[in-house]
Amino acid sequence: MHTLRIGTDILGKIITRAATITGEYLAPYRTEHFRDAVERRLRALDLSSYEAYLTHLERDEDEAYAMLNEAFVGVTGFFRDAQAFDALSEHLTRRFCQHPSPLRAYVAACSTGQEALSIFILLERLRQAMGLPEPAPLVATDINPHAIETACEGVYTADQLRGLSSSLRHQFFEPHPRGCRLLPRYRRRIRYQVSDVLRERPPGRFELICCRNLLIYLQPRAQLHLLNSLHNALRPGGLLFLGAYESAAPLPALFALVDADHSIYARRP
Ligand SMILES: C[S@@+](CC[C@H](N)C(=O)[O-])C[C@H]1O[C@@H](n2cnc3c(N)ncnc32)[C@H](O)[C@@H]1O
Repeated sequence: MHTLRIGTDILGKIITRAATITGEYLAPYRTEHFRDAVERRLRALDLSSYEAYLTHLERDEDEAYAMLNEAFVGVTGFFRDAQAFDALSEHLTRRFCQHPSPLRAYVAACSTGQEALSIFILLERLRQAMGLPEPAPLVATDINPHAIETACEGVYTADQLRGLSSSLRHQFFEPHPRGCRLLPRYRRRIRYQVSDVLRERPPGRFELICCRNLLIYLQPRAQLHLLNSLHNALRPGGLLFLGAYESAAPLPALFALVDADHSIYARRP
């Protein structure tokens, strides 16, 4: 249990209480990260103030789980920020030309799987084009067990699949009553796990790590901790792909900038 006080203002007290009830480690996050989630819960419960919400939280411990589920529901999508994926594809093409060997990839904070699948599809197309053997399964993790359950099922609605061209849809998915499902031969090649990337080590060593839109929610110290941990999990020269508003610049001794416009870094040896 974490009884660490996260803030003395009312939002801080709510987060401290939620952390104590659930045992989740919430101190690394910016307090603001939880504001939208608490506001959505206020509306759902028809409560008019944070004080009333804190009283409700004291009476009903399940509420802490409901609020955290809101906070960790990740906005995501296929090939979110398409230009960044195009840039990554160019860097990976160069890498495959220099080292024509399979590449191990890890997607941290993968939410419901769309980002892991975007990386998987990109790598699989390059691999097939170069006639390379299959690599070890792509590993993808998220702290939210509900998100990982959805990712493992691999079913996406037509709306969620809008970011994918119809040729990619046909190559990688099959029809399903709720939309489309990733083909079994590809499902086998992605390993999803529930994991807190701030408390557990990345599951192996990789040539590519994608960790997008998590650093922005963290306090500066937690950002450094996470970047250090991802550095340790990258093989020398391996690529780190961050979100549009994220950077590894605070650790220049560990990461070399590869593409400033698209937040791509390489691990220094
Ligand atoms: C905004 S979403 C980003 C999803 C995806 N990376 C993208 O950019 O499309 C943030 C994700 O980070 C996950 N997350 C938050 N804290 C985490 C932690 N400590 N370990 C692993 N995942 C975490 C959330 O559950 C959520 O799915």
